Order: sequence, then C-alpha cells, then structure tokens
Amino acid sequence: MTKITFITSDNESITVEGHSGSVMQLAVQHGIKGIDGDCGGVCSCATCHVHVAEDYFEKTGQAGDIEKDMLEFEDNVSEFSRLSCQLEINDSLDGLVLTVAK
Ligand code: FES
Repeated sequence: MTKITFITSDNESITVEGHSGSVMQLAVQHGIKGIDGDCGGVCSCATCHVHVAEDYFEKTGQAGDIEKDMLEFEDNVSEFSRLSCQLEINDSLDGLVLTVAK
C-alpha cells in the first residue's frame, strides 16, 4: 500500500492508502476537499491540481506537455504543480505529501 497525505485548504492533513489507479481517483474516493476530478482523469479540467511537497518532487517528476498546457489556465500554479490524475500510484510514491491547490 502507498500512503499519500493531502493537505487541504483548511490546513487539514489527511493520509490515505492506495495501491493502484491515479492519485486523483484516490482523493475522490476519500472525499478530499478541493479535488473534484471533473473530467474523469483525461487532463482537461484541472480540478485535481495539487502542489507536490518539494522533497517529493523528484519522485513525481515534472508535468508532461499536455498537463503543462492545462496548468497554464490555472491560478496558483507553482513550480511544484501537478495534476493528480496524471500521477499513477506506485510504491515509489509512498509517503508523498500533496497540498491541494486553492
Ligand atoms: S481530473 Fe481533470 S485534469 Fe485531472
């Protein structure tokens, strides 16, 4: 199981576990506030925007080209922004900390 911690806009820290699928799907399953996943994970809504904790950014890597295009339309983009639907859960992400974008 891979543990992922979400920090919501209320500054609540919620740790959940998953073993497959995308980080967005995991967040939606657990009702993480601020992650809606409106497009179902096809990289066309940006309602799954998160900021990866700097220490973990090496593990998630940079956004892909389509993802970057989508993030251009978002407010509050940082150098650590990712769309969580594009993050596949795997063992290497264990301990990942994500701040839900406002
Ligand atoms: S769920 Fe729509 S871009 Fe991620």
